[in-house]
Amino acid sequence: MTTHALSIGSALDPSGTGASQITDLWWVMFWLSLIPIVIVGAIVVAILLRRRRDSPGATHPPAETSVSERSDRLIILLGGVVLPILLLIPVAVVAVGTASERVTADDETFEIGVTGHQFWWDLEYPSPGSNRLDDGETFRTANEIHIPAGRPVEFRLESEDVNHSLWVPELDGKTDLIPGRTNRLAIQADSPGVYQGLCAEFCGLGHAKMRFKVIAHEEEEFEEWLERESAPADLEVDAESLAEFGDSCAVCHDVRGLFEERTFRSSFGPDLTHFASRRTLGADIISNTPQGLARWIADPQGVKPGNRMPHLGLEGDELNLMVELLGRLE
Ligand code: CUA
Repeated sequence: MTTHALSIGSALDPSGTGASQITDLWWVMFWLSLIPIVIVGAIVVAILLRRRRDSPGATHPPAETSVSERSDRLIILLGGVVLPILLLIPVAVVAVGTASERVTADDETFEIGVTGHQFWWDLEYPSPGSNRLDDGETFRTANEIHIPAGRPVEFRLESEDVNHSLWVPELDGKTDLIPGRTNRLAIQADSPGVYQGLCAEFCGLGHAKMRFKVIAHEEEEFEEWLERESAPADLEVDAESLAEFGDSCAVCHDVRGLFEERTFRSSFGPDLTHFASRRTLGADIISNTPQGLARWIADPQGVKPGNRMPHLGLEGDELNLMVELLGRLE
């Protein structure tokens, strides 16, 4: 199986504005926390050395061990009051500063709906010409969040079932997706690239395999992607194969433009309109190759235990037909 290895970027090597701010804060906390560690470490070492010197067999009498009450109080005052104040005030100042400088969104910021499902990510985009989801037509895709680089975008975060948490360590901090609630995250990738994301809140058996990618494009390339992705599927296929495809895949998955006579649009599983253009499948678990896809359809639970894809029992020609049709959904 062509398993897609998780190569997650370090939060300490940021590529996004939010992550850079968090990294700066982290380093301030790291260096300040070294101060008490060094002081306490020095005291422990001093006590150990003194113990050894005073141990039985030593030639001189035990050293004076009772410290006067006055110096006891002084140690408590310095170590318990003065030092914490000196350390925590700078941390508080920098933390509040970081929070106030967060990437922000306004009514013009490009908005993307992200809905968490066990165990994949449903994405909703405004159709070309609009920036906001409520402004008009939208379209759906899944598991690969395409964004423009160099400017903030806003994620509208919701959940269909249980709590999830969206995290792209290189770009920003985590934000929860909570049923019945809408959270928002303004996020910015400073340069084009592919950034690994994952679910950071235990949400069930498939949690560890609930990943996604953020793909940041140059402006022009992003507009092209938007244009392509918003278009309906372009699949020339005979009626019999189409019916088979409808019965096998399109019961749970929407394929825009293929089943015009249908009165429902299924969003139980990821939208497959441009499935073949995605890099990975199973929420970023295996590479999107014909072999990977055949394995996924034939044995979804073997690839990703706990996922909601049913075992369809397809094999031989039937399986090949599905793999072939899906592979043409460019
Ligand atoms: Cu979704 Cu963990």
